[in-house]
Amino acid sequence: MKIALASDHGGFELKEEIKKYLESRNYEILDLGTNSTESVDYPSFGKACGDAVSSGQAEKGIVCCGTGIGISIAANKVKGIRCALCTNTHMAEMTRKHNDSNILAMGGRILSKQEALEITKAWLDTEFEGGRHQRRVDMLNEM
Ligand code: RB5
Repeated sequence: MKIALASDHGGFELKEEIKKYLESRNYEILDLGTNSTESVDYPSFGKACGDAVSSGQAEKGIVCCGTGIGISIAANKVKGIRCALCTNTHMAEMTRKHNDSNILAMGGRILSKQEALEITKAWLDTEFEGGRHQRRVDMLNEM
């Protein structure tokens, strides 16, 4: 499975940690930047990840900024994107089971590396439950 990664400067270091973790699990990675802690604009990077997932270039995406908020808002502007900002593993599991989220957002200035990697693992390893949740996801996709 290919995972698109994107961050601004506030999420850059976390993105790099996530990249190492994904490589250790043999995921293919599409790194859309940013590539340093130099200040950049999170909307551009959230949109780039949204576009990559929406177009099928990557099956899922992970985005990081300082809080995770701005870049999640940007990703969610792209049609077909269900980007979930998670601050714990319960949220990560629930958003996969119920929302079939296709992008995970996290805050590099909010979470420790260990917390973020646990959230990433929970999100990647949890499947969508379908059933009664499918109709609601279909409603989201129609918006
Ligand atoms: C950048 O300073 C910061 O605003 C950004 O990383 C993010 O937290 C926005 O939501």
